[in-house]
Amino acid sequence: MRHKGEILAVDDTPASLRLLTDILRGEGYQVRSAISGELALGAAMRQPPELVLLDINMPGMDGFEVCTRLKQDERTRDLPVIFVSASAETGEKVKGLQIGAVDYVTKPFQREELLARVHTHLELYRLRHRLEDVVAERTHSLHQSELKLRKTLLDSVMAIAATVEMRDPYTAGHQRRVAEIGAAIARDLGMSEHRVEGLRLACVVHDVGKVKIPAEILNKPGRLSKLEFELIKNHAQDGYEVLKEIDFPWPIAQFVLQHHERLDGSGYPNGLKGEQILPESRILSVADVIEAMASHRPYRPGLGIEAALTEIEVNRGDLFDSEVVEVALNLFRHKGYQIDFSGRISTTWGPASCPPLAPTDAPSGSLSAASNTSPSPV
Ligand SMILES: [Fe+2]
Repeated sequence: MRHKGEILAVDDTPASLRLLTDILRGEGYQVRSAISGELALGAAMRQPPELVLLDINMPGMDGFEVCTRLKQDERTRDLPVIFVSASAETGEKVKGLQIGAVDYVTKPFQREELLARVHTHLELYRLRHRLEDVVAERTHSLHQSELKLRKTLLDSVMAIAATVEMRDPYTAGHQRRVAEIGAAIARDLGMSEHRVEGLRLACVVHDVGKVKIPAEILNKPGRLSKLEFELIKNHAQDGYEVLKEIDFPWPIAQFVLQHHERLDGSGYPNGLKGEQILPESRILSVADVIEAMASHRPYRPGLGIEAALTEIEVNRGDLFDSEVVEVALNLFRHKGYQIDFSGRISTTWGPASCPPLAPTDAPSGSLSAASNTSPSPV
């Protein structure tokens, strides 16, 4: 029988290490333990585990150094690392995530919280590897099994999207509604059905990078600090990293990477301008802003579709592509296109409207709290 997961637990305090390993073994995980950074690094290189739980403050090689070295080596680069530290400093957490950790647990931890985080990151790690395997196996026979492959891709993308939405209930439904709006705009712009399909997939996973953001930041009802906002901004690049190895028939990772770029170069992560931004990303960004502003947020009710349309109208040509904005305004204001921002997608728009990608009875959603520092979503 397949084991539940192989974990490397690292802590220089024997009692803490014992507690950690007992909890994990009690849940059926295979656990190897290391009492120092040097021993941990050696163990991980010799036989990479599936996940590393890493203390930060240790004599000799500390956790940051161990993580940095794991991320530099091809054999261990992809390993999910969760820091487990007594330090509750935001700076420490941000540093840990910036050097490549997927999560941060503060000691003393709740047993259930630790296990939930371990389970989530192991699943995501396995999901990603399964996706790569599935795509690698099937690409060579693409011309014979194109329909089947597309269904597999779609299921995989929906699984990724569901993983993100599980951690961030406020995002539930957001990505699917962005996909509906984005596809409607793309069709009215005259894009081919093949390109519309690629755009829809990109929309459905455009915030996948948020898997690296601690849930308490994603769901924070109050104003975000500058540090927290900077952390959230990483999600575009992180989404790209998650998706780049998957051999989609479209550059999905690039579409996602550029979804917060703005026409005048004020966007992120790369400050691209105008035509440097892919057309699909220019559509995605407009659909994202419309959905995020119109729908409810943890800290405010939905602002309504008119406020969202005014936002893109005021910034057309500066932040948003003029042609995309014009088509979007026309859709909502003159063609009778409607979308239920409380959760269920119910377009009453003409026959070109396509069915939603999945059942849309998700709870009412909005994007993260980060956009309370800006009218645009993150
Ligand atoms: Fe985003």
